[in-house]
Amino acid sequence: MGKRKLETCFSPLLFEPELHADSIVVIIDILRATSSICTAFENGAFSMIPVAGVEEAKEYKKRGFLVAAERDGLILDFADLGNSPFNFSRENVEGKTIVYSTTNGTGIMKMASSSAATVIGSFLNISSLTGWLVTQDHDVLLFCAGWKNRFNLEDTICAGALAEKLFDSSLYSTICDSTLAALDLWTLAKTDLRGYIDKAAHRNRLKQNGLDDCIDFCLTSDFTRKIPVIKNGILKGDIFNS
Ligand code: MLT
Repeated sequence: MGKRKLETCFSPLLFEPELHADSIVVIIDILRATSSICTAFENGAFSMIPVAGVEEAKEYKKRGFLVAAERDGLILDFADLGNSPFNFSRENVEGKTIVYSTTNGTGIMKMASSSAATVIGSFLNISSLTGWLVTQDHDVLLFCAGWKNRFNLEDTICAGALAEKLFDSSLYSTICDSTLAALDLWTLAKTDLRGYIDKAAHRNRLKQNGLDDCIDFCLTSDFTRKIPVIKNGILKGDIFNS
């Protein structure tokens, strides 16, 4: 039997949903959406409702929902929570449904909804996610959120780390140069991940706004075993119980 295909997409503008209808799509937005989602579910959140637009999030707020929402990193004035993983503490989220809207991450979750499965990836769940992927007989697309349709370093590096683990299984092959580039960048960055990420644009955007206290945490491997999954537009915390 042939190997499964592993591909990487660096920007929502490059995403071609019809090519990935039978693939598992891994959404990657480590600063900070996918790290926050993994944290929320590790801390007992019941579900999350990703919404792309601010107006939609506001409507949910009026209906009494708990809302986490940011634009350009900053919490929106009507929201209960911002987008730091530290906002999704057990105290804030246990047993709750959270409506969630972010600059880049939540938009691409909707774009990938016609794939075989759409799951959430970050360093925080890297081993459980890759451990599960190898048990699934599907091609995989690593879908990096980037920043406003542009390439970004941090999601690419996480894609490279995921690719390395998947290639270690010998079940995947690639003819995708984006995957090879992600792997090369990860190889360059991994000996000093924190130092490497210092140059990333969004790391500096967060710093300017005093929101960079979560960077080390977002670069931590295996904080959780959860593999959040999107089904019928709703994020649930665990692929095994969704
Ligand atoms: C996003 O989805 O664009 C991000 O996670 C932005 C952030 O809150 O840092």
